[in-house]
Amino acid sequence: MEPLDLKWIRAQFPALTQKINGKPAIFFDGPGGTQVPGAVLDAMSDYLVRSNANAHGAFATSARTDALITSARAAIADFLGCNSDEVVFGANMTTLTFAVSRAIGRELQPGDEIIVTRLDHSANISPWYALEERGVIIRVVDVKIEECTLDMSDLSQQINPRTRLVAVSYASNAVGTINDVAAIVRLAHAVGALVFVDAVHYTPHAPINVHALGCDFLACSAYKFFGPHVGILYGKREHLTRFTPYKVKPAPEEVPSRWETGTLNHEGLAGVVAAVNYLAKLGCHVSPAVDSELVSALAEADKEGLENFSCPRFLTSPNQPSHELASAYHSRRAALVAAMSAIQQYERELSHKLISGLLEIPGLSFYGITDPSRFAWRTPTVAFRLAGQTPETTAKALGDRSIFAWHGNFYALNLTEKLGVEASGGLVRIGVVHYNTVEEIHQLLQGLNEIAALTN
Ligand SMILES: Cc1ncc(COP(=O)(O)O)c(C=O)c1O
Repeated sequence: MEPLDLKWIRAQFPALTQKINGKPAIFFDGPGGTQVPGAVLDAMSDYLVRSNANAHGAFATSARTDALITSARAAIADFLGCNSDEVVFGANMTTLTFAVSRAIGRELQPGDEIIVTRLDHSANISPWYALEERGVIIRVVDVKIEECTLDMSDLSQQINPRTRLVAVSYASNAVGTINDVAAIVRLAHAVGALVFVDAVHYTPHAPINVHALGCDFLACSAYKFFGPHVGILYGKREHLTRFTPYKVKPAPEEVPSRWETGTLNHEGLAGVVAAVNYLAKLGCHVSPAVDSELVSALAEADKEGLENFSCPRFLTSPNQPSHELASAYHSRRAALVAAMSAIQQYERELSHKLISGLLEIPGLSFYGITDPSRFAWRTPTVAFRLAGQTPETTAKALGDRSIFAWHGNFYALNLTEKLGVEASGGLVRIGVVHYNTVEEIHQLLQGLNEIAALTN
């Protein structure tokens, strides 16, 4: 596999050329929302010019809109490794999670239990706590603060035959820890419980295969993986069919539309398709030979919103010429897996540079996994505090240097409380994504050393 071509990647993102006070902007705010490729902007504006209409009409723009919705489901099916009719769109992950919790809650009895975790974003906690009004008992799995990892023995102890659902994040948006979701699915399914995975933070960092994972639901948000503000829910078809969502009477009864309340964000869906196709194009770049046929087919798909997109021919690695692999590489899914695997590898190298540099800064307290041999269990999202400063002060000083970083609790409130930092302003968060560079990390570390020196 070729290393990432950062020049090509950065050229795709118009926002990355911005200067603030004469200095190039450095975007380490990805966990709060990533920048978007120009192709996403073009697709959204093209939709609004050529296809803007409501769905299911007997005229051209409405037919294009129907085709776009189908195409967006196919794109996400390729991205997540599921079927198109298992993809639900909505306003954002939080709204979709409330919709699922309300639907599942209709079937729960007083005394039924749901497990949430202290590592999670509130979007995968509050919707489940809302079911307490039905007599559902919420159990909370603890976090081991040394490395900010989930306490798996606590989880094993809390899971029991009354557990109906386990709500867990794939990765923490505050400290970057990746949870062993496959193991959690096995534990939950052993007692007949469902698993709802919040993959919002994980999606820009690694390939996802929901069928292999075996989870029952998985939610994410396109604005965290280079797309616009659109919420996405994967649900096993059997669950989307069996559970009853709250819906208006004339809306479609069939899966997955029955889970989508009101009119979808069509221009957002056009952006979602373009974001997925951007990643597939990246997959072509990192594959041993760029398949020009796939690239032009993807460009065509950007324009036409092709349904059931599949590549006519996608070259395999010269080192792995087996027929099986050759057929596996015949699809956009394969290109996406190639892209996300290359991203994962590149981001791991950046994590090394970032974390080793941070640990050398005097007065810096780090929260999360620092041992490089355990980097498979973290994303390149890191959290820290500088002695004598509030996280806001540090983030402001970085902002003055055109380095964008978040501070606070990022809605991972239970975690910042557990870490004892909530009352004093939470954490500073640096979120690296694949368009960030080694040079940007050097600038960050230099800036932080200067900022730390102010209070040391
Ligand atoms: C891990 C995680 N889960 C859920 C959410 C909420 O996502 P949305 O804004 O799509 O509701 C976020 C947003 O920051 C997040 O980082």
